[in-house]
Parts: sequence; C-alpha cells; structure tokens
Amino acid sequence: MNNKTLQQLVDKNFNNYKKGKVADYIPALAKVNPKQLGITIYDLKNNDRIQAGDVDVRFAIESMSKVPVLLLAIKDRGIKKVFETINTEPTGFAFNSIMNMEINHRKHPMNPFVNAGAIATTSLINGKDAKEKFERILAFMREICDDPDITLNKEIYQSEAKTGDINRSLAYYMKGNQMIEEVPETLEAYFKQCSVDVTATGMAKLAAVLANKGVAPWSNQRIVSEESATIVKSIMTTAGLYDESGEFSVHVGVPAKSGVGGGLMAAVPNSYGIGVFSPALDNCGNSVAGIQLLKDIVQELDLDIFK
Ligand code: DON
Repeated sequence: MNNKTLQQLVDKNFNNYKKGKVADYIPALAKVNPKQLGITIYDLKNNDRIQAGDVDVRFAIESMSKVPVLLLAIKDRGIKKVFETINTEPTGFAFNSIMNMEINHRKHPMNPFVNAGAIATTSLINGKDAKEKFERILAFMREICDDPDITLNKEIYQSEAKTGDINRSLAYYMKGNQMIEEVPETLEAYFKQCSVDVTATGMAKLAAVLANKGVAPWSNQRIVSEESATIVKSIMTTAGLYDESGEFSVHVGVPAKSGVGGGLMAAVPNSYGIGVFSPALDNCGNSVAGIQLLKDIVQELDLDIFK
C-alpha cells in the first residue's frame, strides 16, 4: 500500500463521522471538530510509515493511555503484582461501569482497560505523589510514542477532573475493598494521563513497539519486555474496545485500543503499528470512521490475525 491508496481509503471513509457524535460527557471534548480523519501505518518490514489525512492533529489520548500506563506498571511492579491486582477478563459492560467488580462477587477490577482497572493500574505506578507519578507516565509516553511534544492539555484535564465523579465512585469502591490506597493522588494522575495530547503518528509508533515484541523499530532499542508486549496485545484483543470488543474481533480481527478522544491504535503482530484519529464516536465510545477505516486496511493488507 502507498500513500495514495491510503488517501483513497481515508476519502472513502471520511463521511462515516456523520454516523457518530463527539464525546460530550467531558465539556472540553464536546468542542472538538468531528470532521477529521487521519491514519499512520508503521510498516515493520520496511521500517517506514505511510500516512494520510489528519495525522499531525493533536487530540486527547483518553483511554488509549491505558496501554502505556499498563506497560509502565508492569515495568515498575512486575507482571505478577499487576495481575494479582487486576484481572484479565473482558467485561461486556460500558467502560465506566462498576458492574465489572460487583458481579460474581469479584473484588478486583476485571481488566486494565475498563476505567476501574485503569485506575487501579495507575495506583501501581511508582512515584511519591501524583506529580511524580504523572511525570513518569508522561516521560514514558514520550519515549514509546517517539514524540517529545506530548504534553498535558490543561483544559481537558480540568474538564476530566470536574466531571469525574463516576471515576471517583469507582476509586472509592476499590479503596473500600483494599484494592487501592490513595484515591485523590491516583485520580489526579489518572485524569492527567487521559488528558495528554497525542497524534495518530505517535499512536502508530506505540503500536509498532507492541507489534515488534517490545522493541522500538526506529531505534532498535527495547522499550518493554517481549512478555509484556504479548500480554498487552492479548488484552487489547479481548477488551480493547469495551463492550464492542467481541464484534471488533469478529469483523476486524487485530489487537486494538480506543479512546473517547477519537483515537484508535492497532498492533498487528510482527507487521504493522497503526494509529487512527477521527473524533465522532459510536454508542460504545469508539471512533466510527476510525473503525471502518481500520477494517478496510485490515482487508486490503490481509491482516486479520484469526485468518
Ligand atoms: O475516564 C474517563 O472517563 C475518560 N477520561 C477516559 C475514557 C475513555 O476514553 C473511554 N473510551 N473509549
């Protein structure tokens, strides 16, 4: 595939934004222009990327932050500790539901990609306070996305913090069950990690590291262990798109993670890292045009991992 073919697929899918709606539960996200679509594909074989559309536009990483923060928690605390705290089962519930912990008398959040599990993951990040935790998260995101310009979007952060009462209830529920200790500290770091501005290209690079077994293809430096890259891709496959994960696996078939900022990344083992951005979302909180475009790419390049 070349830039021109990719541009044609972007053009074909652009109008899908009309079938969705930008996130409005966080006021700063409601202001984002829905008429945007961009994609970067990092090709491991040629160590090169192809791209089309709005690939350099900055948007809030939101739930895609759950991927780098999980990788950092594993680096900090080890696989055993992280997955003693957070399970690895899909939930079938919305991303901010408390049900994943209530059903079956489970005390532990069911996976690191629903909000409860992500908040518990953030609580495991090393650092003496929220400031230090977030600084470490930011430095790690810059490294794994190969993007030194990733910064906190203060307006999104303030919006997240102001409207974050469901996340607060999840966090206090977990504190009541001895899952996490410091609620305000953990939530400050969690709201901030969701509020950093990234690009489709940066997300493609993060996904390329996962696709490449933990090694950054642009530098040949190992960033995370092969084992953690494998585990994270597995969880992306079963829980990366919330209660749409099963449908996505059937109809698209690659490990992926979404965010309500309109981002979507896919790590295709040993071949491609893909970053997509289009802010209008479906009912589950996933980018409508992003999913359709990714589906076309997967078909065009024959990437369905279940084939
Ligand atoms: O916790 C929240 O509500 C958001 N900051 C992140 C949620 C998110 O991106 C869910 N996504 N699809």
